[in-house]
Amino acid sequence: MTKRNIMHNKNSNAEVDLSLRQFIKNLGYTAGGLALLTTVPWLQSCTPEKLAEIKNQKARVAILGTGSRGTYHLHNLLKIPHAQIVALCDNYQPNLNAAAALCPTAKTYTNYHKMLESKEIDAVIISTPLNWHAPMVLDSLAAGKHVFCEKSMALTMDECKEIYDAYLKTDKVLYFGMQRLYDKKYIKALQMIHSGVIGDVVGMRCHWFRNHDWRRPVPSPELERHINWRLYWESSAGLMTELATHQLEVSNWAMKSVPESVMGMGDIVYWKDGREVYDSISLVYRYKNGVKTTYETLISNKFNGMGEQILGHKGTMELAKGEYFFEEAKPAPGIMQLINQVEEKVFSTIPVAGPSWRPEVSGEKKPLYVMGEKSSVNSGLSMIGAEDDGSEEMLSAFCQASITGEKAPNIVEECYCSTILCLMGNEAIKQQRKIDFPEKYIIPYIKF
Ligand SMILES: NC(=O)c1ccc[n+]([C@@H]2O[C@H](COP(=O)([O-])OP(=O)(O)OC[C@H]3O[C@@H](n4cnc5c(N)ncnc54)[C@H](O)[C@@H]3O)[C@@H](O)[C@H]2O)c1
Repeated sequence: MTKRNIMHNKNSNAEVDLSLRQFIKNLGYTAGGLALLTTVPWLQSCTPEKLAEIKNQKARVAILGTGSRGTYHLHNLLKIPHAQIVALCDNYQPNLNAAAALCPTAKTYTNYHKMLESKEIDAVIISTPLNWHAPMVLDSLAAGKHVFCEKSMALTMDECKEIYDAYLKTDKVLYFGMQRLYDKKYIKALQMIHSGVIGDVVGMRCHWFRNHDWRRPVPSPELERHINWRLYWESSAGLMTELATHQLEVSNWAMKSVPESVMGMGDIVYWKDGREVYDSISLVYRYKNGVKTTYETLISNKFNGMGEQILGHKGTMELAKGEYFFEEAKPAPGIMQLINQVEEKVFSTIPVAGPSWRPEVSGEKKPLYVMGEKSSVNSGLSMIGAEDDGSEEMLSAFCQASITGEKAPNIVEECYCSTILCLMGNEAIKQQRKIDFPEKYIIPYIKF
């Protein structure tokens, strides 16, 4: 599916229907009928049939936080025929003005409490710094609004639990911006993993490397903490909640469970510019069966880029690239193996033991493609605004759910678990010890 393919015609429901049908078709599920779809619970509420039922209705949406991500959502919302942006709120006037210029019909607010009083708003999309997520989600739900909040869930474990408890009680729809759950490449790859294509999952390696200081220009010093909120513990949990949260979520998705514990280290290695959060983190999460996710993130070297490798005993899935590899290439016929070994002088070097002395350097491997063709290596890099990473589909599903009131299962739980794991990672670093998943934050969804 191309970016333009999703529901950009504001007037035609037939096209909306067609686009979502195409979306589902592109996921590769239609051949197997709806049976396969039932394994993706959160897609059940946004099927083309259900979208057709809402006809010309629109969710009246407010964007709370019109910075970088809020503006990205604004652009996507303008393409969604069942969404109407009716309000914008930001307490930093330049960002509010910039958003208002893109959507002049929306009412503007600098105080979100004031905005929540409006009866003209059905749903709120929250894209503010992490420390604001909990109060804004809870206040919006209390005001009777459907809520989409950006990841991660919240700054502290207590706040996450408070949100989860509110979610259990509310009749409103609640989404968190874990867009990989709607990324067709991830969905299909996870289906393949679960059907045993790469064998038993025996380990996972996730990493996110960049070479950028993560700073934004500040027009005057008193705005430093407002604009560079990511760099300070009072408003951010650093690289864990900004980057790792997406990748820990897919690790859990692959394992269908949640790690029991984590160990690790974090430091400020390079960007010693007054920031508080680490610029270098290495962690090991351990699942109950001994499978481990090693997690590395560094923002002063981008050689390795971003990736999630799911390692199976028969093969490896590179989720972000949409590629997979089998451990063993089809064996060459015996005579060819013998010729190769003679040519490589294997026998003259070690006449009895065979080639086991060779160093196990990973060689060039020929990938197979999850979507049947080479997919963009950028997919999944939503932080830099990459296209076709599930963000649009998720937002569309949220707007649809805000009209129908039908909740999508698993999304809140997935975000809850990955956020707690991120916060556990930071605790392991700060306390320099292994941290177990705290009993008081275990929810029924969790399987260790
Ligand atoms: N899902 C993803 O891939 C993804 C990608 C990028 C960012 N995000 C998330 O989106 C959120 C925002 O990130 P960003 O990069 O857009 O940050 P940003 O700093 O660019 O934007 C945040 C906006 O919130 C406003 N704001 C702060 N406090 C406010 C308050 N009390 N009332 C009203 N407005 C307030 C700021 O003025 C700013 O305009 C973060 O939670 C981030 O983790 C998610």
